[in-house]
Amino acid sequence: MIICSCNVLSKARIAAAADTLAREAPDRPVTPGRCFRALGARPQCGTCFAPVRRIIADAGITFTCPEPLATVSDGDLSAAEMDNAFDRTDKVA
Ligand code: FES
Repeated sequence: MIICSCNVLSKARIAAAADTLAREAPDRPVTPGRCFRALGARPQCGTCFAPVRRIIADAGITFTCPEPLATVSDGDLSAAEMDNAFDRTDKVA
């Protein structure tokens, strides 16, 4: 199942990247941004942010996100907010 249509990323690839990141640095939260970077992809429209976070959460992996799951429509985020969400992923300890 394709989750990110902009980068043609499947649920399986995202889940595998999240799992690898969690194993490589267990004390560091896995974020959609880290998953994208691990897959060599760059977020474009941001429509997939919530599903990517859900995939990470459903895998039982510690994650962070700029807003609670399913309370803000990704369509409600401005481009600056989306950029900020991804910029913040590098600053998470
Ligand atoms: S669907 Fe993932 S960035 Fe557009």
